[in-house]
Amino acid sequence: MALLELRGVCKSFRKGDETITPLDNIDLDIQSGEFVSLMGPSGTGKSTLLNLVSGIDSP
Ligand SMILES: Nc1ncnc2c1ncn2[C@@H]1O[C@H](COP(=O)(O)OP(=O)(O)OP(=O)(O)O)[C@@H](O)[C@H]1O
Ligand SMILES: [Mg+2]
Repeated sequence: MALLELRGVCKSFRKGDETITPLDNIDLDIQSGEFVSLMGPSGTGKSTLLNLVSGIDSP
C-alpha cells in the first residue's frame, strides 16, 4: 500500500466567468521512502496539488 494515494482528484477555481481546472482527474501513488519531485511550468497546479495533499485545501 502506498504512503500517499490519490485517485481521480480534481480541483477547479472560478475566476470571474472563467473556470480554471489545474487538477483534472489526477492519480498519484508515493511509496514510503520514495523521493518524488513535482515538476512543471508555472501555473500548472503543483502548489494546488500540495495544498490538497497537506489538507490546506479540499478537492
Ligand atoms: N486560490 C486560488 N484561487 C484562484 N485560482 C487559483 C488559486 N490557487 C491557484 N489558482 C490558479 O490555479 C492554477 C495553478 O496554480 P498553482 O499555484 O497550483 O501553480 P504552480 O504549478 O504551483 O505554479 P508556480 O510554478 O508558479 O508555483 C493557476 O492558474 C492559478 O492562477
Ligand atoms: Mg507553486
